[in-house]
Amino acid sequence: SALLNVMMGAARKAARNLVRDYGEIEQLQVSKKGPADFVSSADLRAEKTLRAELKKARPGFGFLLEEGGEVAGDDKSQRWIIDPIDGTTNFLHGIPNFCISIALERDGELVAGVVYQPLGDEMFHAEKGAGAFLNEHRLRVSARRKLEETVIATGIPFIGRPGHETFLKELGAVMGQVAGIRRFGSAALDLAYVAAGRCDGYWETGIKPWDIAAGIVLVKEAGGYVTDFQGGSKMLDNGEVLAANDHLHQPLLKLLKTARG
Ligand code: IPD
Ligand code: CA
Ligand code: CA
Ligand code: CA
Repeated sequence: SALLNVMMGAARKAARNLVRDYGEIEQLQVSKKGPADFVSSADLRAEKTLRAELKKARPGFGFLLEEGGEVAGDDKSQRWIIDPIDGTTNFLHGIPNFCISIALERDGELVAGVVYQPLGDEMFHAEKGAGAFLNEHRLRVSARRKLEETVIATGIPFIGRPGHETFLKELGAVMGQVAGIRRFGSAALDLAYVAAGRCDGYWETGIKPWDIAAGIVLVKEAGGYVTDFQGGSKMLDNGEVLAANDHLHQPLLKLLKTARG
């Protein structure tokens, strides 16, 4: 669609500099927003490019940007939710698992999402009602039903952030039931992997809207379920997210709830 083309075009443009910056990590200016919360000149430049490209194509829309915060547009009903680099820690360590994440929210509903992993040239994209894709291939969440056969992705709270004790309880409960757990370091890609059926599920807490907005559209359009830990849809507000196929979502939710007490 025209909308997805705009989003994918912006992601590709911002990605060109990211790939260059990734090759010269020592040259980047890095500052700390918190104990383990880094932002580099690459994050800022990517965000600037995305903002300019999307503004050119859809002048009235507002923005919610990880680095730039909220930017109101003339059109109050539509805004872009953007993470210029999801997986900054990986990026700065020379680990190739990072991406650009762009979602469009219309009247409070997520209607389109693009997650682009430049080094693997993997363009995950989805629009509400039109399915999810990796490049030109249609995506479908995994069909696994048995927890003991599943691979589940998660995120561990960074140093200095709350939730370490709760995370250990969740981990203890889930690791005893599944084949394996992965911590890849990019929430947006974790959700894209669930959409692609590479992972059977993903959970995390303390997550921000720009980490998950695009990925939520991907998982839903690939036939999966995404909820918060109450089973509701307040993920963007309460920062809790659990994604899985329809067989595994309930059992995982139950495990997490019991573990958290
Ligand atoms: C982080 C990544 C990570 C998740 C963190 C996020 P950033 O985003 O998505 O996987 O565990 O909670 O903050 O800082 O690299 O954009
Ligand atoms: Ca960050
Ligand atoms: Ca992020
Ligand atoms: Ca980021």
